[in-house]
Amino acid sequence: MRTETEHTIFLKDYAPSPYRIVAVDLDFDIFDKVTIARAQLSIEPEAETPPGTPLVLDGDGLSLSSVAIDGAPLMQSAYASDANSLTIVEPPQRRFVLETEVHLDPAANTKLMGLYRSNGVWCTQCEPEGFRRITYYLDRPDCLAVFKVTLTADAKLAPVLLSNGNLVRAGDAGDGRHFAVWQDLHPKPAYLFAMVAGDLGSITDSFTTASGKKVDLAIYCEHGKESQCDWAMDSLKRSMAWDERRFGREYDLDIFNIVAVSDFNFGAMENKGLNIFNDRLVFAQPESATDANYAGIERVIAHEYFHNWTGNRITCRDWFQLCLKEGLTVYRDQEFSSDERSRPVQRIHNVQGLRSAQFPEDSGPLAHAPRPDHYKEINNFYTTTVYEKGAEIVRMLATLLGETAFRKGMDFYFERHDGEATTIEAFLAVFADSSGMDLDQFKTWYLQAGTPQVSVRDAYDAENQTYTLELDQLTAATPGQLEKSALVIPIRFGLIGPNGSPMGWSSVSGAEVRDDMIVLREDSAVLRFEGVANRPVPSLFREFSAPVQVHADRSQDDLLFLAQHDSDPFNRWEALQDVSSALLIDAVDGKRWDDKALDGLRQAALQTLDSDTLDDAFKALALEIPDASVLGQKIGKDIDPARIHSTRKDFIAALFGPVVGTLETAYEALTSNKPYAPDAAQAGQRALRNQLLKLIVGAGGDDALAVQQYSEAGNMTDRFAALTIVGTEWTHDAAGLLADFHTRFATHDPLVLDKWLMISARADDDGVIERMQAILADPAFPKNNPNRLRSLVGSFVLSNPVQFTRADGAGFRFVTGFVADVDARNPQVAARVLTGFRIWPILEPKRREAAKAALADLQQSASLSRNTADILGRMLA
Ligand code: ARG
Ligand code: ZN
Repeated sequence: MRTETEHTIFLKDYAPSPYRIVAVDLDFDIFDKVTIARAQLSIEPEAETPPGTPLVLDGDGLSLSSVAIDGAPLMQSAYASDANSLTIVEPPQRRFVLETEVHLDPAANTKLMGLYRSNGVWCTQCEPEGFRRITYYLDRPDCLAVFKVTLTADAKLAPVLLSNGNLVRAGDAGDGRHFAVWQDLHPKPAYLFAMVAGDLGSITDSFTTASGKKVDLAIYCEHGKESQCDWAMDSLKRSMAWDERRFGREYDLDIFNIVAVSDFNFGAMENKGLNIFNDRLVFAQPESATDANYAGIERVIAHEYFHNWTGNRITCRDWFQLCLKEGLTVYRDQEFSSDERSRPVQRIHNVQGLRSAQFPEDSGPLAHAPRPDHYKEINNFYTTTVYEKGAEIVRMLATLLGETAFRKGMDFYFERHDGEATTIEAFLAVFADSSGMDLDQFKTWYLQAGTPQVSVRDAYDAENQTYTLELDQLTAATPGQLEKSALVIPIRFGLIGPNGSPMGWSSVSGAEVRDDMIVLREDSAVLRFEGVANRPVPSLFREFSAPVQVHADRSQDDLLFLAQHDSDPFNRWEALQDVSSALLIDAVDGKRWDDKALDGLRQAALQTLDSDTLDDAFKALALEIPDASVLGQKIGKDIDPARIHSTRKDFIAALFGPVVGTLETAYEALTSNKPYAPDAAQAGQRALRNQLLKLIVGAGGDDALAVQQYSEAGNMTDRFAALTIVGTEWTHDAAGLLADFHTRFATHDPLVLDKWLMISARADDDGVIERMQAILADPAFPKNNPNRLRSLVGSFVLSNPVQFTRADGAGFRFVTGFVADVDARNPQVAARVLTGFRIWPILEPKRREAAKAALADLQQSASLSRNTADILGRMLA
């Protein structure tokens, strides 16, 4: 295998730069074929820097046209440069201005890092190390500078010229060209730099902050899409108001711009005052976006906006600290969504996501600590562990401290570290200092990989009125981390008495118990509750108070009791999931469910459906049968996804077959002809109705009702739900329906095309790979657009376990073939798709061998990017 030189970066090697860049003056002369980037960097040595210390700037694929210091061109012997660095041998020992010029070819930049062209629009992506693809620089997050940016371009090709901060000047530049000068006085690391130039439409609005400052808001997009930006704008204003209310954080510039671009490697980017978004997270209209899309837009708009404080004002010292800004900001966006929508429903969605993505990562070959201590390629660490587990850690901190102390700590964080590039240690220290709580052990959450397994056993002694609860925690070894230590695990809980109401106790010993929380700190603990009048049913990990896997051997009766009586909606939902999981896992194992068990579950499900107190969105979730990947994860070894899939299908048929009529009546009753609105109540109603449709089709096997809903749907949520049901089961109507969807809705709207691609990749029949190959081979297929590629191949890997893990290896080879091809053009997309293989070690032997062979072939085959080589290396280690 030939790869770019492998080198590992270690956290322990962190050292501050001997030079600092205080101010940056960038000048972009933009032409159709070339962009000339001139940089004037005001640099000075740090006080301790010994004279004669060379200055080494980062570059990536650059070629230097000229270099000067304080206006004087440098002699050949005074510097050394190649594509990846520029060294000034003996810089002046005082402040000086380093001037460089490089020529860029944005149209040829298919990696979509640095400056590139998307749909004719010039735009940038710099996090984490894209700025060095624009100019030679100290491209590290602890190098903070103020930026002034001048953009000059053809007035017709690029009437819009944007960068960070405030617009200070604009005007005519002669020859049909014009210019704009932007200044950002907030010192920032280069990864937050952005510029956009192009012919774009926009919508505008304004927001007045709590202290009375008016902020001009704009969202830029391709012409004709302006009306699809209203929801994003609405979400932005609500985010701004929420951050003031909930965290006391106001916006700090006069302008906030968002630009939607169609070629973007991930979701969005929080560049100071100029967020750049993947257009799929901006555009929404009822005919083409689903409720899930609306919720996703709201969430990501909020996320990027919240970064202004958690990420931009306070940034990361080095990339090992990525979780400092991402985990915290995900926590903040989750809280926003909970406040804007239903908190329990939001929590369930987040936990579902954690279980289906983060848990598999954390137990597989790519497991890593939320704050890793080494990496080969930082782009491969924008993971669900850093983001979602990172958010869970912040949530636990809030749980342990309580709301008031947590808010006090956050205030102190903003006060103490504003304007700094800092660390996880500093973050934890503000909470320790402001609350007096010792957080040393808590820090282990950031340093240790793997999902803790918590086992629970309990017993009730009627004679002594004593209830004992035995808890053990164990985290299995992960790659490179064989020894694990005990974590601080907050367990929010309650004891429920026979009549369904909460039970008290007179005293408890064996572990720290505070109100409704057990704090488990040891490997194991035995809690003794005295004065417990009856055998209680325990409700543990309420609101999913810690990201652990719980093993408790509870009877179906107790679980159904919880499903009915728990005051915590999360655990009510969880109890039903546990009942289904237990029956399903036994069945996969060959022990088919008995009718009595099924009856009990069915009754509970119908009771939930019938309730007048639960909201529709919650009911929809309660009726969900655990998905195949979550079940596979629970089984944990030698899994056969095809068998899990078919068992699950039989289970749904057996469970709901006898009550299809009831489900149909409920389905009809939820039909509404109100005009579409994206609000939580309406979305909840649609979610429940579409859940029922899925169960009706699953139970009866006839897809007629789904086909009917597809044709009559007045919005994309209902249409796409119906198409998904028909398309993934690949019923006899599927091919026709997909073709219809393609011609009528997808051909003129790339984001709808993505929906067609997703369903095309998810069919569980053996023909799916061939059909995908045909799609990719079509010359009209936009083979460099990350959204299109991910919709097809990403969905296949993550959402089509049956075909991806086919025993003949065809699914694996399809994906590795794709990765090899795309890697040459866009390593980030290739590496990301490849991570879908992380489940390979838990597959049954035949599939496992097939997966391994495909991976080994890929490793042999070609020259791979550092991104892909890193993932592959860890996957096969
Ligand atoms: N900071 C951005 C966000 O979370 C994401 C940047 C992703 N970068 C990457 N190389 N994957 O909002
Ligand atoms: Zn983020």
